[in-house]
Amino acid sequence: MHSHKFLITGGQKLEGQVRVGGSKNAALPIIAAALLTDQPITLTNVPDIADIYTIQHILHFLGVVTEFADNTLKIHAKAVANVEIPHELVSKMRASILFLAPLLVRNGDVRLAFPGGCVLGKRPVDAHLSALEAYGAEVLEDNELLHLQTKGLVGAKFTMTEASVTGTENAIMAAVLAKGKTTIRLAASEPHVQDLCEFLNKMGAKITGVGTHTLRIEGVKKLKGCEHKITSDYLEAGTLVLAAAITQGEVEILDVVPHHLDIFWQKLREVGVKFELEEDRVRVFPSKHLKAIRLQTAIFPSFPTDLQAPFTALLTQAKGTSFIFETLFDGRLQYLYELEKMKLKPKILNPYQAEIEGPVDLKGAFVNSCDIRAGAGVLLAALAAEGQTEISNIYYIDRGYERLDEKLNSLGAKIERVK
Ligand code: EPU
Repeated sequence: MHSHKFLITGGQKLEGQVRVGGSKNAALPIIAAALLTDQPITLTNVPDIADIYTIQHILHFLGVVTEFADNTLKIHAKAVANVEIPHELVSKMRASILFLAPLLVRNGDVRLAFPGGCVLGKRPVDAHLSALEAYGAEVLEDNELLHLQTKGLVGAKFTMTEASVTGTENAIMAAVLAKGKTTIRLAASEPHVQDLCEFLNKMGAKITGVGTHTLRIEGVKKLKGCEHKITSDYLEAGTLVLAAAITQGEVEILDVVPHHLDIFWQKLREVGVKFELEEDRVRVFPSKHLKAIRLQTAIFPSFPTDLQAPFTALLTQAKGTSFIFETLFDGRLQYLYELEKMKLKPKILNPYQAEIEGPVDLKGAFVNSCDIRAGAGVLLAALAAEGQTEISNIYYIDRGYERLDEKLNSLGAKIERVK
């Protein structure tokens, strides 16, 4: 699978209508949270992507039955084996850490190899462990394994060490069945965190403050089965909007939740992209004379780090000097070295900041996809480049985007998937 490549012939204007799928980053914690009940769960609008198969492998290893077809995933965790989850299973995906809280709650014991995933710099697990310790979980010393135990978690008032997304999700999943009341301050509030809370409330949890940085949770004794539609993927929506804009295309993107992307729309306007927002869709129009801007990532509702690389691809076509400031990760400007092969001349000031001068006549080249979003960034650049671009390691793109090549081709792109 790692040897698959995309061959892209640039310069095609995108036109037509395309639908956004379900959110990967909402589906993953929600699937892990299905272990909090012994009753059946049905999830719809689940994206058909590599990470969903990876998380199902872990469920199967735990003895949990799943059924996945037509974007519907059925999970029934009648019993959950109390076993150590080995490195082979968790190394593919950093989000495997989402099993920490559900397994601890369900079995009173969790043993998980340190998760892997995209190479995005140092990403400590402190936020996860300190939240679980606040409820009284015992973290046992082990260098190669995350090993936690409890005789019963107790709700607590605490502040997250940082607004970590999956850290907050673990903190929520542990609190819903803990004894008594919990207040989590500095909680992450990304749309996927909100979707997890809505799902848990359908299961019978009592979470309030959803969408804010302070969550209040009243522990309940039991959670029940339910049906839930995974929220639309605002990161895919943003990527498709940028694909339309970078090719000067005219595209209607359906199943968008506009308020998930407030700052993104502001930044698009600042660059000079013309678009019209409706309740559940956006129409992007051909826009010339794009202007350079300052782009700074931060936690929700600010500009998402996961759209930084795709947005920078658009900024290569904007006049003037754009300043990119990635505040979350220290490995998320790596794709600029790939864009350099396509004739961009980025000035990388340090691991977090860069300047790019546009507009650039991008040229096709042999480039690499270094993580999910970096892959989307180089793919967008390739759509605007002259000639052919070959992207290797597209496994990363497939981890997070459902058939992005097919979706873009349906709008007139020329992307070939080759071995
Ligand atoms: N961080 C800060 N300040 C903060 C919050 C985080 O510096 O206020 C740092 C952390 O130290 C860490 C990084 O930012 O280095 C990310 O932290 P976080 O724990 O929030 O990331 P995560 O929970 O591991 C999730 C997403 C990522 C997304 C990040 C940031 C899932 C399954 N993963 O990861 O998604 O980039 O939040 O929004 O939800 C992707 O989809 O491609 C992806 C990598």
